[in-house]
Amino acid sequence: MTLDDLMFKSGLLAGRRYLVTGGGSGLGRVMSEALLLLGAKVYICGRRAPVVEQSAQELMHQHGGSVVAKTCDIRHEEQIVAMLDEIWADGGALDGLVNNAAGNFVSRTEDLSMRAFDAIANIVFRGSFAMTLHCGKRWLAEGKAASVLSILTTWVWNGSAFTVPSVMSKSGLHAMTQSLAVEWAGRGIRFNAIAPGLFPTEGMSARLNPGGGEHKAKGNPMDRNGRMPELANLAVYLLGPGSEYVNGQTIAVDGAQFQATGGNFSALSAWGDEEWRRARDSIAGRDAQDRRMRSEG
Ligand code: HXC
Repeated sequence: MTLDDLMFKSGLLAGRRYLVTGGGSGLGRVMSEALLLLGAKVYICGRRAPVVEQSAQELMHQHGGSVVAKTCDIRHEEQIVAMLDEIWADGGALDGLVNNAAGNFVSRTEDLSMRAFDAIANIVFRGSFAMTLHCGKRWLAEGKAASVLSILTTWVWNGSAFTVPSVMSKSGLHAMTQSLAVEWAGRGIRFNAIAPGLFPTEGMSARLNPGGGEHKAKGNPMDRNGRMPELANLAVYLLGPGSEYVNGQTIAVDGAQFQATGGNFSALSAWGDEEWRRARDSIAGRDAQDRRMRSEG
């Protein structure tokens, strides 16, 4: 991505500082890159130290500016508090938080254990709330204006078979966005969310398209997937100056996939035991690879 891919003037975010959870890979990295290109200092956190550190180095090498990598598992409150202490010590209050870190995999709900539910809910639902709470307490105490952006999915409006822990968790964040938008509006903190359509990333395709092959939004009325700058532009708009009156909204960027098809995984109803076994094996392989990177850190 270059500045020319974005619809904003150079230096729009100069002097601002943002934290992007899960900013070392996937959509989080894309949004971090856009914030950096527009002059912000960006903190990226993730569970895998090599991934966040390498991404920070690559982004700074490509674009200059400042990206700070933090290793943090948002399932652990004490890691969040320690990270925010360091970030606040590094230059005061953040201007915004992007709740992007997530976990998800396709599975028949009857095949899940409670540990499987917790693996997802503790990242998406509980972890994003903890991030929001600990940033919020600091902003409120300091009277600092800030913008919180959460990355959701269109399923928050219609549910999604075969990804029930994810859709329950993301729906909770949709409710958080609406609720805190009101509760903290008078104190300068606003909340919005993006419901992206299909912007395939490597980690997501490994878990949501485990059969491999082209990962394309079937039935999309624009007959294509999303392009990363299309997501990044909306993220910058919601986080940056000029959109202050936009508050409490979850906005889809999906080429009208949701209106056309519901945008969820209902098509997997056609899978039988064999397809589900293959999917699970494939996802397990990818998870093992991620765990190795976490232990290296
Ligand atoms: C059933 C599964 C399973 C599967 C794991 N489990 N994969 N159950 N089917 N395919 C179960 C395990 O058996 C175990 O339960 C429990 O889940 C915890 O598994 P762990 O591997 O120990 O968990 P952990 O290492 O913490 O990994 C967390 C994770 C993993 C969520 C499972 O996928 C992950 O780290 N993902 C991060 C990246 C990611 O998911 N990206 C995609 C995001 S896409 P038992 O009972 O056996 O111990 C997204 C929205 C997309 O969020 C929107 C698209 C439009």
